[in-house]
Amino acid sequence: MSGTLITSDPKLGLTTGNAPFVEQARSRGELYITQAYELYSDENHEVWRQLYARIQHNWERYANPQFLSGVRALDLPHDRIPRLSAINRRLEPLTGFQAKPVSGYVPGFIFFDCLRRREFPTTITIRPPDRMDYLPEPDIFHDIAGHVPMHTDRRFADTLVRFGECAFTAAEITSGIDDYAERVRRLTSIMRAMSRFFWFTVEFGLMRGPKGICAYGSGLLSSNTELEHAIESDEVQRYPLQLEWVINQVAEIDNFQQILFVVDSFDHLFSEVDRFEQWMRDGKLYNVAPGLPDVAEGDLRSFLEATLV
Ligand SMILES: [Fe+2]
Repeated sequence: MSGTLITSDPKLGLTTGNAPFVEQARSRGELYITQAYELYSDENHEVWRQLYARIQHNWERYANPQFLSGVRALDLPHDRIPRLSAINRRLEPLTGFQAKPVSGYVPGFIFFDCLRRREFPTTITIRPPDRMDYLPEPDIFHDIAGHVPMHTDRRFADTLVRFGECAFTAAEITSGIDDYAERVRRLTSIMRAMSRFFWFTVEFGLMRGPKGICAYGSGLLSSNTELEHAIESDEVQRYPLQLEWVINQVAEIDNFQQILFVVDSFDHLFSEVDRFEQWMRDGKLYNVAPGLPDVAEGDLRSFLEATLV
């Protein structure tokens, strides 16, 4: 869809790739920032309004019921970018989770450690109007409209905390390996497994719902086109979640996912994260299949330097 309704705005805005407020914070080494709500331009709000208007109908058709209750519980605005303070006032009493504004990339261990503390690192910028359909990096529509409504569900929220604890376990069990190269090799394999598991569940997960297969993954719930494709397309293979498959399955980064995994419930997902942690402790994750996602240098370093308190 074109951005023809969007007019130029004199304000600088908080646009992905063009947000001096965020870029300056990053250059000062500040990870946690404020939302600086007054900096959003009319164009930024209009992008949110259009994204919301386009996806609303598909949410009703394809989102899991917990997500839809979450959207209502948060009173997610449809016509302007939400204030994180208003979201948190409604979210925190439900599950203890909070959206915490960040300046961009959060190194892997720090990201998972935030989840462990029920804090969700949240991007404050929004995509530019000429990139409505796809943006490789997260923006506030992905983080707040795609992820945060799920955080109102107690069992899903507990599952995110378990993921956070798994990162801690990964750092802990590899910290005692004396041979540095072997430590890095094992940690890289565990991180790849964990990142795939997170990718095929929290980001792109499907579940059995009252009306058939529905979506709970935020990558689907923030993409109008991929949401419909994930549920309706004959080209997509949908299989019951199998841990041994998921941790070895190469992820599609720039295309629609062609393989998706279905959980029965969030109790089911929670128990699979438990199993993942046990496999890690049993040493079963040191040789997962190579391939995407890559383990970035900064992510690896964050695990190697993790403070295990
Ligand atoms: Fe995400």
